[in-house]
Amino acid sequence: MQTQAGQPAPGGRASERAIGVLISGRGSNLQALIDAIAEGQLHARIAVVISNRPEAGGLARAVAAGIETVVLDHRAFESRDDFDRSVAATLLSRGVRVVCLAGFMRLVGPPLLDAFPDAILNIHPSLLPAFPGVDAQRQALEYGVKIAGATVHLVNGELDAGPIVLQASVPVEDDDTVETLSARILVQEHRLYPAAVQLILNGGWTLDGRRVVCQTANPGR
Ligand code: GRF
Repeated sequence: MQTQAGQPAPGGRASERAIGVLISGRGSNLQALIDAIAEGQLHARIAVVISNRPEAGGLARAVAAGIETVVLDHRAFESRDDFDRSVAATLLSRGVRVVCLAGFMRLVGPPLLDAFPDAILNIHPSLLPAFPGVDAQRQALEYGVKIAGATVHLVNGELDAGPIVLQASVPVEDDDTVETLSARILVQEHRLYPAAVQLILNGGWTLDGRRVVCQTANPGR
């Protein structure tokens, strides 16, 4: 079955290409999005950056770029759903259309998924469906794969399991450590995420089962 995707999220001041970025840590992928926008490669506006951790390094990157930041500490909420509802309300009130998880270390539940159907993206440092979850690069090394990589996918209710938007591969060298392999993958992540966000914002794609199918040429691939 094909569904028309890329519709604006309901509610709020729907700004054509407003995105929200959710982080928990250093925010290098957030920085890649900021830089791609500044360089004119990604036509978007980051309306808000939300962190569930007050100490996240990525918050300073957002402030330096003049982007609004909001800290929603998950420990302050009574339930997972309460936290998700608050995140959704914050995004909707800023007119966000597409949500980008960038090192956001929380599972996304129904209140947030329902507010942004087929409009939440995540970046994961493996070639999914291989090595979901934490320590993907270590999992890849320990398994002994010769090719690793990164995936941007739409978020559904399962961990790292939504439809794949873009992937990039890197070789695994015999002398790789978790650190060297992670660094090689990260270079690709920073290229891949802006390209995937641009693709989703541009529309012209449909979901055919699990497959993200593009009607136009896709430069990110
Ligand atoms: C990245 O490797 C990303 O793929 C994973 O978490 C890491 C976040 O890094 N989901 P950063 O905070 O974007 O630097």
